[in-house]
Amino acid sequence: MPKPHGGKLINRYIKKDQIQLAEIPEFEINTNLSEDILNIAKGVFSPLEGFLCYNDLENVINEKRLENDTPWTIPILLDFNGDNIKEGDTVILSNKENGVRALLDVDEIYTYDKKTLAQNIYRTTDKEHPGVANISNMRQNLIGGKITLLDSKQREFDNYNLSPKETRVLFKEKGWKETVAFQTRNPPHIGHEYVQKTALTFVDGIFINPIIGKKKAGDFKDEVILSSYETLMKHYYLKNRAVMSILRTSMKYAGPREAIHHAIMRKNFGCTHFIVGRDHAGVGNYYGPYDAHEIFSEFPDLGIIPVFFRSFSRCTKCGSVVNDKICPHDQKYHINFSGKKIRELLQNGEIPSEDMMRKEVAETILKYDKPFVE
Ligand code: ADX
Repeated sequence: MPKPHGGKLINRYIKKDQIQLAEIPEFEINTNLSEDILNIAKGVFSPLEGFLCYNDLENVINEKRLENDTPWTIPILLDFNGDNIKEGDTVILSNKENGVRALLDVDEIYTYDKKTLAQNIYRTTDKEHPGVANISNMRQNLIGGKITLLDSKQREFDNYNLSPKETRVLFKEKGWKETVAFQTRNPPHIGHEYVQKTALTFVDGIFINPIIGKKKAGDFKDEVILSSYETLMKHYYLKNRAVMSILRTSMKYAGPREAIHHAIMRKNFGCTHFIVGRDHAGVGNYYGPYDAHEIFSEFPDLGIIPVFFRSFSRCTKCGSVVNDKICPHDQKYHINFSGKKIRELLQNGEIPSEDMMRKEVAETILKYDKPFVE
């Protein structure tokens, strides 16, 4: 099992009765930020112990690394309306929805250039890009500093919400020496299943780790993704070879940079390998289909092995799932596993062909009146 990123698993949680909280000012933050806090506190974002300060942010933007040279590609930033806060203060950040309460040591308050941030992280400043749109809505002042989680409450899907500490124990118990992680934000089509099972052939187990959290309109709802995977795993996976657990964080749609970030988080969960397929974490036409493969060559020190896949489709001549490395036939024989096409069919209440999606999975999705984020 790989060591956590940066060497040790971060744990920034203390019981609130261990400290005196009266007199500390409290600020409400949005759910996204509170989920960043949970991920920092539980070690998903190891080695981060808090929100980035200026030097780390500059390094992440320009070098794709923290100031101490550890690979890090997606900045974890804190912006909220805390105008009276000064450097040196300690404040409480809280969120009603998930009951998060955390101490923040305000190390630094600083400004940043939104255009440079967008261009370097998303390779575009086009506000149609959901990540760029998010940046344009951010405040101009950021706060850097360590957090300490005091409290959070049980939420929906928490029976699937394992921490890195827990997955590390689980993989060990299962006797898995090598575990491949699969990132997703969609219910599984045949292409997804093929990618997973091909990778699984070479290792001991697969960690299916769907992202649960803020997505864009038209994406599948969280509960739909989970129940469709439950169905797939029940009918088509070996129990002792596959584990599913959620990752609560927002999709950034940052393509290649997000692929590295996704890999780092799965390394923290204890995975040795990470699947990167076609247009990983992409949106629209902002990234080339294999940009997320190429970026890994910049990180020989990442500490998790990327498993690359060219785009799979079904070849009617071969009668099987293929890609351009293994099939000699013309494109006209190929049926793509198009997420868009599958969505359109499901939207009209139609079951996609079994060449594209397992019937049981499609039926599970169609049980929902409104399977998509609006
Ligand atoms: S993502 O935003 O999380 O990347 P999605 O859930 O669709 O979107 O993809 C999960 C993983 O499967 C990604 O690594 C993606 O590149 C890969 N993938 C999806 N479809 C295919 C396909 N047809 N061929 C190869 N890889 C694919």
